[in-house]
Amino acid sequence: MLYEFFQHLTTPCPRPVKDMGYLRELIGMQARYKRCQAAWQPHLHQCRNWICQAMQGSRGRVVVLGSGLLYDVPLQELSDHFDEVVLVDILHMPTVRKAIRPFSNVSLETRDITGFVEALHDGTSRTPPEAPDIAPGGADLVISLNVLSQLPILPMAFAGLEATVAPSLMQAHLEALQRSAAKICLISEVEQQLCLDGEVVEKDDPLAGVSIPQNLKVHTADWRWDFAPHPERHRRYDLVYRVEGYLR
Ligand SMILES: C[S@@+](CC[C@H](N)C(=O)[O-])C[C@H]1O[C@@H](n2cnc3c(N)ncnc32)[C@H](O)[C@@H]1O
Repeated sequence: MLYEFFQHLTTPCPRPVKDMGYLRELIGMQARYKRCQAAWQPHLHQCRNWICQAMQGSRGRVVVLGSGLLYDVPLQELSDHFDEVVLVDILHMPTVRKAIRPFSNVSLETRDITGFVEALHDGTSRTPPEAPDIAPGGADLVISLNVLSQLPILPMAFAGLEATVAPSLMQAHLEALQRSAAKICLISEVEQQLCLDGEVVEKDDPLAGVSIPQNLKVHTADWRWDFAPHPERHRRYDLVYRVEGYLR
């Protein structure tokens, strides 16, 4: 806890990104990963596998959206396969800057993929714009990596926005993926489950009613992510995500 507090004080981070909680979330995810590492492994393995399947037949430049702490990114394989690997996140932690150093063809791009965060922070807008180009430098493959359902969480909490904003932000991201000429690999949570002794007792929709467009679902796969086995979040209940992978 003390270490996390120290990290929050000392990690360089632009003011809007820190105020809105992105740094806090990444520090929290690092700590949760350490506690739940064994439970997360099958999910992380599935993500890396799905990405390795996606890269077959593509060369050139790959752009990974929501690269985060790289837990689910097969960095070595991407670097070996593509001429250029661009990792995009709203914030790159020092551990990530260090992890990419051995790879001369991997670079970091710090970018808000919604184009909404700064305007919301400054109070100049409360309405999400159409999502900006997801790969401004062009791409042969774009990977949206466990980021779709995350896009509304911090903006909603920061500004108490109307409930309709959450689906709009996710819809805009899906539209931006559809507009891209690149091959698309999308991985997202599609259902949140609360489980007791292996039985699902409650379900929730992390996509707030948004459907993944059929044309992004040329190939699909699904698996579960044991995100917070008890007593991580609840004394007796496990929090599980149903995750789907899509390729177009
Ligand atoms: C659940 S994590 C994805 C897992 C990540 N690939 C990993 O292995 O650590 C979601 C990531 O999306 C990023 N993110 C959330 N909102 C974003 C936005 N508007 N623009 C860019 N990145 C964003 C977060 O900073 C976080 O790293």
